[in-house]
Amino acid sequence: MSIKPLALFVKHDGASARSSVTCQYKCGNACFHEVPNTSKNEYFGDIVAGISRRRLFQGSAAVVLAAGAGSALAACGSDDTEKAAAVQNPGTGVGTGFDPVAPNKEDAVVIPKGYEQSVVIRWGDPVLPDAPKFDFANQTAAAQAKQFGFNNDYSALLPIAGKDNSFLLIANHEYTTEPAMFAGYKADAPTREQFEIALAAHGLSVVEVKGEQGSGKLTPVLGQYNRRITGTTEFTVTGPAAGSDFLKTSADPTGAKVLGTFNNCSGGVTPWGTVLSGEENFNQYFAGVIADETGQARGKRYGLGHPGAGQGEMPRKWETFDKRFDTAQEPNEANRFGYIIEVDPWDPAGTPVKHSAMGRFKHEAANIFVTADGTVVAYSGDDERFEYMYKFVSSKKIQPGDTAAARKANMTILDEGTLYVAKLTGDHPDQIDGTGKVPSAQGFTGKGQWIPILETGADGKGRSLVDGMTAAEVAVFTRLAGDKAGATKMDRPEDFEASPFTGKVYVALTNNKNRGDEGKAVVDEANPRKQNKNGQVLELVDDHKGTSFTWSLLLVCGDPKEADTYFAGFDKTKVSPISCPDNLAFDPHGNLWISTDGNALKSNDGLFSVVLEGANRGETKQFLTVPIGAETCGPIVTKDRVLVSVQHPGELDGASADKPGSHWPDGGTSQPRPSVVVVWKTNGEIGV
Ligand code: FEO
Ligand code: CA
Ligand code: CA
Repeated sequence: MSIKPLALFVKHDGASARSSVTCQYKCGNACFHEVPNTSKNEYFGDIVAGISRRRLFQGSAAVVLAAGAGSALAACGSDDTEKAAAVQNPGTGVGTGFDPVAPNKEDAVVIPKGYEQSVVIRWGDPVLPDAPKFDFANQTAAAQAKQFGFNNDYSALLPIAGKDNSFLLIANHEYTTEPAMFAGYKADAPTREQFEIALAAHGLSVVEVKGEQGSGKLTPVLGQYNRRITGTTEFTVTGPAAGSDFLKTSADPTGAKVLGTFNNCSGGVTPWGTVLSGEENFNQYFAGVIADETGQARGKRYGLGHPGAGQGEMPRKWETFDKRFDTAQEPNEANRFGYIIEVDPWDPAGTPVKHSAMGRFKHEAANIFVTADGTVVAYSGDDERFEYMYKFVSSKKIQPGDTAAARKANMTILDEGTLYVAKLTGDHPDQIDGTGKVPSAQGFTGKGQWIPILETGADGKGRSLVDGMTAAEVAVFTRLAGDKAGATKMDRPEDFEASPFTGKVYVALTNNKNRGDEGKAVVDEANPRKQNKNGQVLELVDDHKGTSFTWSLLLVCGDPKEADTYFAGFDKTKVSPISCPDNLAFDPHGNLWISTDGNALKSNDGLFSVVLEGANRGETKQFLTVPIGAETCGPIVTKDRVLVSVQHPGELDGASADKPGSHWPDGGTSQPRPSVVVVWKTNGEIGV
């Protein structure tokens, strides 16, 4: 593998090191558009135009923290999970014993001494048995629909019962970068074939992988569960949005059958063995001015409504190939994206679901915690500057058992319950000056409330808890409900995960270049830095089923040599620099692992372990870095292996298929290919 210096590494938007091509194709230049949240809800005292006080405080009796067996499965998604409950002193650093990788700009996956790696699967590799061999220069939509998609983000690894050392790998394909996928790509005149290839390169892949004795290596198998879900696969919508006028289109008068899923970012494994995934920056696939004023205002809150027919700022011009992407002609099609989807990977013919009871926003992911009584609590962040944190609490309890019938029943759990949005206050409001100065011996601390906005019953019908909005409106225009509820504007809430060991809940807040700008939300204790370039990690002690929590900042990220960083009080001379936290995972010992997106410290993105409990709380170590121009996503950490998604390798300003920014993973003069990578220790368990 060739290793070259990162000469093309460009600092682009003043907030992170994302290249402009990543900004354009990953999120439709979200950070360059006006902040969609123009609500004034900044102060706790202002609460709640429109929320009943009785509702606000009902049902908030203390709930004992408990890690259900199911939640352990949800977080780890591995064969280690049954042992989770038995771990002594979880999160204290056992399992983080490796030599940290130094920041670097290499065109390689750099791993600690004593570890090995291999690529599990890459863009274009076969998923279905009759998939043709990948041919970069002659790609077709029909081939792509049977091959591993582009820019994989989340991944899950589920053991196959009764089949030793065999797993299902489920991967999201968040977005396409057409200039890297097609030689000679003309952004102002894409072809229909390129449009159809891009549709087929989105979605998810389910692929069986097999381990080998004596190593952590995983190899794809053309197994019975293998499946491609693409931009044209049929989905069923459930919950209060289903069948509403907001979802009806000329192609689908039922308002409940949607073709495809887009921009699936991160996700989570459910305790019943299915996979959740968040439809994130879905707005960028649509263009066209929305005719009516109300629709236009609602669309604007989601970054929709840019001029269409090739005049827009949206990158792909899909509206010129299919009118469903033209919001002037089909204003409701975009209302059918922005949900949490659920896929049963054990049923390759099954119809995946979009759960509208969990709200519609730029979902990063959804991750589940199960309380002692079997109630399911799903946490989800809305990844955009100044957006909100949400949770859904089920009315139903988990049905035990690993049968198809139990899974079918459990796939309706996220259709019945209450959706909440978070409001935070700080304990030291007078000491937050925007510099990141630590306000107390305990660090940055505060309290919070979950404000209920939507209740959905057994019949799928909703009851709005927000004055002036119907249940369908709350389900489809959830950001507006959050505005009315007076929710707290956060610095890009991304992955949101509860520890299956302690029940504490963690949120990655990636960055926010506009925090504290004139006319924007001011700094607060949970978002304590102006023009926040490096992000922070929030820890909640949540009343999972209830409505109150306390919080503290675990990490205020950045260069530990800088005064504006904080590592839970741990000695900053002994930690790795970390910037732009994005995805979270727990290892089998209860430590947190964090992958980064857009490292603003002049290094490639990476994966880090963080100690959560005991004397070393806050100790942060870099386990690996990904190649030049890439983002680290989808981490999975088991005792045997670490998996990461290497997303958009070589995606640098000025790079394209004609001038590749990276030659990873195949070296030489090859095109870069987004891939899943597995890392294992030569002799022994990860970090031990
Ligand atoms: Fe797709 Fe929130 O990153
Ligand atoms: Ca990401
Ligand atoms: Ca995660």
